[in-house]
Amino acid sequence: MNLVNLPQLSRAARHLRRGGLVVFPTETVYGLGADATNVAAVARVFAAKGRPADNPLIVHLSSVAGLATVAASSPAAERLFRAFAPGPFTLVLPAREEISRMVTGGLPTVALRVPSHPVARHLLRRCGVPVAAPSANRSGEPSPTRVTMARRSLSPDGQNPHRIIYLDGGPSPVGIESTVASLRDNEVTILRAGGVTREMIQQRFPSLQVRMASLGETGSPGTRHRHYQPRARVMVIERTDDVSELHAGLNAEYGLIGLEDDLRRATQMLHPLETRHASELRHYASNLYRWFSELDALGISVIVAVLPENAGLGAAIRDRLERAAGGLTGDV
Ligand code: TXA
Ligand code: MG
Repeated sequence: MNLVNLPQLSRAARHLRRGGLVVFPTETVYGLGADATNVAAVARVFAAKGRPADNPLIVHLSSVAGLATVAASSPAAERLFRAFAPGPFTLVLPAREEISRMVTGGLPTVALRVPSHPVARHLLRRCGVPVAAPSANRSGEPSPTRVTMARRSLSPDGQNPHRIIYLDGGPSPVGIESTVASLRDNEVTILRAGGVTREMIQQRFPSLQVRMASLGETGSPGTRHRHYQPRARVMVIERTDDVSELHAGLNAEYGLIGLEDDLRRATQMLHPLETRHASELRHYASNLYRWFSELDALGISVIVAVLPENAGLGAAIRDRLERAAGGLTGDV
């Protein structure tokens, strides 16, 4: 593996400052970054991804201290943010005038995150500007957790019309996108489940109400759009489901993914062509998009995914799987 070195980082930071696009690793997934204060650069991000203009971008900062430069913060919001940043946590706050409405998809709010990945932190410190960065994939595809996945999605056939610089930081350890949350009065609403779980927020702030946004709630516009889908059709099943009927209906060559213990039960009835399993939730999350990518490359037409329990990180994994299966199209 040829991981990023300091001269490459400096070159990437310069490219960003001049309005260029840089794919960089974060602890969640790879991001496609542009200077958030440069409208032309931000427009290029939307073009490179084929992203709808009403789907806002997350602004990445090098430290929590930068919060007030982009958003109207409050002591309570700052406490919440500081508790989980740097890390896989994004907070939606009222945007300051300086932030272009192109970044926020026309909304008066802005989503902020301080990634903990060392390459991301170095890059953000070096470029000295807030960086708007969606996941580094064509709109609708799963997020890349490796630089090769980002390249394949954004620069197919080795073409690079948007002159993107790619930084390789190895596999993203969390593997699914950050938790997106908003805070109003004493209530935290989770707009997108992610690496920081509902339980973690509740435990840290017992006096706050922490809830998942209901389907159809207009909080996170991105979740309205088609999302996280591999080429293969994804079917989700509960770990307790009787799979005998399913097997009869599956005539395609299919793959099976899930937690090791759950798969042991399922494979007594199912006979998949390919199997991918994880020993624990953390690994289910960190491998999910890579499995999608591998099974797609193998030409698998159906992926049967055994859903984990709806608790902790399981909530975020279920969310992505259900979206990939096309079952969830409203807001999280
Ligand atoms: O982990 C992550 O969050 C990755 C890495 C690169 O940081 N980024 C990421 O960005 O997943 P993206 O653009 O793929 O997803 C951003 C999500 C979308 O669902 C979007 O709608 C939501 O954040 N979002 C952004 N700004 C928002 C706002 N002002 N209000 C509500 N939701 C917002
Ligand atoms: Mg995305």
